[in-house]
Amino acid sequence: MKIGIIGAGNIGANTAKLFVKAGHEIAIANSRGAETLKDLVSELGENAQAVSVEEVAKFGEIVFISIPFGKYQTLPTDAFDGKIVIDSNNYYPDRDGSFAELDEDKTTSSEMLAEHLRGARVVKAFNTIWFEHLKTQGDVKLPIEERRAIFVAGDDAEAKKTVARLIEEIGFAAIDTGDLSDGGAAQQPETAIYNRNLTASEAQAILGSEGGY
Ligand SMILES: NC(=O)c1ccc[n+]([C@@H]2O[C@H](COP(=O)([O-])OP(=O)(O)OC[C@H]3O[C@@H](n4cnc5c(N)ncnc54)[C@H](OP(=O)(O)O)[C@@H]3O)[C@@H](O)[C@H]2O)c1
Repeated sequence: MKIGIIGAGNIGANTAKLFVKAGHEIAIANSRGAETLKDLVSELGENAQAVSVEEVAKFGEIVFISIPFGKYQTLPTDAFDGKIVIDSNNYYPDRDGSFAELDEDKTTSSEMLAEHLRGARVVKAFNTIWFEHLKTQGDVKLPIEERRAIFVAGDDAEAKKTVARLIEEIGFAAIDTGDLSDGGAAQQPETAIYNRNLTASEAQAILGSEGGY
């Protein structure tokens, strides 16, 4: 599958490595331009290329976004039409600046991203896992219930299933927290599942549902 990745930091670069290892073709971008990603691309090998943000969005059947949330309005809206977008961003006011609608719990950061990328099907995922754990904890040999959980939330069931399959391919278990509103809120910083080292079984017990795939 062709996967675009926007953001090449702790999460973006490590996710790129996992996706390439699983046999996918990736295009990646950061804010400073493709020439600054030469070392990463040569490490990733022939199934990776660095391009502009807009080209990444056009390249991917899935586009994985991992940038500081506060920058989301810089993303070119039209380039994402028809795409499945994975939103791994979290809102941290100290880093991102304050967004009143989030501080007042009127919406969630993923709904704001979805509003900006109107033609995309946004799935919130990869938000709750620390990048060092993402690097090391995937294990395709483990049965699903014993794998580390990565959560998915979204309004489009088919898009969530596609993202869930990708999560399983890299050795994790996908656990559904619901739609982008309530399910998205359930994955935010300071929730019961945020940055917790949980297996799929443990995660389902906390969420009190059969939300796995
Ligand atoms: N760190 C974690 O363990 C973790 C876990 C789960 C979720 N998250 C969330 O994932 C997101 C990324 O975190 P991170 O730790 O990977 O951050 P990071 O290491 O600081 O990397 C951020 C990346 O985003 C790029 N970027 C910034 N503004 C951009 C823009 N306007 N357009 C395109 N690319 C842009 C940066 O490129 P330049 O360097 O060129 O500016 C950099 O490659 C954040 O929202 C974070 O809260 C982080």
